[in-house]
Amino acid sequence: MATTPAADTMDFLVRRDDLHRTAFASAARPALGDGEARLAIDVFGFTANNVTYAAIGEMLRYWEFFPAADGWGRVPVWGFANVVESRHPGVAVGERVYGYLPMSTHLVVRPDHVRPDGFTDVTPHRTALPPVYNRYLRVGVPSADEPAREDGSMLLRPLFATAFLLDDLLVEQAFFGARAIALSSASSKTAIGLAALLAARADRAYRVIGLTSAGNAAFVGGLGYYDRASTYDALEGLAADEPTVFVDLAGNGAVRDAVHRRLGDRLRYSCSVGLTHHERMALPPADLPGPAPAFFFAPDRIEKRTREWGPAGLQERLDAALGRFVAESGRWMHIRRGRGPADVERVYRTVLDGRAHPADGHVLAL
Ligand SMILES: NC(=O)c1ccc[n+]([C@@H]2O[C@H](COP(=O)([O-])OP(=O)(O)OC[C@H]3O[C@@H](n4cnc5c(N)ncnc54)[C@H](OP(=O)(O)O)[C@@H]3O)[C@@H](O)[C@H]2O)c1
Repeated sequence: MATTPAADTMDFLVRRDDLHRTAFASAARPALGDGEARLAIDVFGFTANNVTYAAIGEMLRYWEFFPAADGWGRVPVWGFANVVESRHPGVAVGERVYGYLPMSTHLVVRPDHVRPDGFTDVTPHRTALPPVYNRYLRVGVPSADEPAREDGSMLLRPLFATAFLLDDLLVEQAFFGARAIALSSASSKTAIGLAALLAARADRAYRVIGLTSAGNAAFVGGLGYYDRASTYDALEGLAADEPTVFVDLAGNGAVRDAVHRRLGDRLRYSCSVGLTHHERMALPPADLPGPAPAFFFAPDRIEKRTREWGPAGLQERLDAALGRFVAESGRWMHIRRGRGPADVERVYRTVLDGRAHPADGHVLAL
């Protein structure tokens, strides 16, 4: 049965070469083709991670997931959506999914590999992109008291997955023999997830050190996961004679260079994970002391562990750890809800410019 174009869709657009230029665009809903389904995007989380998708969108192809007209892009987010139309026999109207979405009201998907737990979007332009971003998990429709639980897991799941995989890498490598693990942008949710995992080991032989900006030092110190909070301008928590691992979430060239210079050969491993300080990104100088920074890309590590543990093996381990972290997150994270274009634009700009409070967990809907 053919579907007819109906009410409008709305997209939040960002200039790919100038993340401060934004616009909203509306269009009639395109008719579905055979095998397609339309998702109505219900709610999504927004953190510095999403700004990083945009900041390195050209290099790592993040703009290609949800194309927009010439020079504009749709920033990817993680959230929940409901199936509102379907021309796929295995996907029914009323189902709810969790996955990678644009900052839009709707998304047309072409489900394949449909299993009880979810499906993969095989829309042609997505199939050459990392598979972890193309899978949609079927979730139950929340009851009245459940949205709060959904909010925490929606915001934290993609970030904590990275924290979990970083922790797994450190365990696999026996912490590179380090006595200190230092995390930049220690106030970020990804860093907090890693710090929580590292701090939970009763028999640990390392300290967990949070490096952060002066304005966020009290927040980092109060989390209870870091043994020491240290500001970028002083780096006083780093002992120059202590074997250390540096996990870099900030991607700030000056901070990275200062950490390497302070520790030199005592730096056992330097891992480039994030780019929260996207305006201060710089390539490492040729004479950077210590090991060359190694790029960490969570999807690569997911593929490795999926091969070794199986999809269910990885999912079970991750879900168990995530459940504990989400349950604890009420201690330090406050959910801030926004709805409509004005809220979406305001939160986007606040996070883009680094003005969001680290305790705020933004949950949005267009
Ligand atoms: N490689 C991977 O596979 C992978 C996977 C997941 C996440 N990540 C990365 O991890 C990073 C953290 O993401 P998140 O979502 O957890 O962050 P978040 O919770 O939104 O982090 C907020 C913190 O980041 C810093 N920050 C954010 N925007 C800033 C700006 N414009 N200028 C200066 N500082 C800014 C501030 O921390 P401080 O004051 O403490 O610096 C701020 O408190 C992102 O870059 C993300 O892309 C990478």
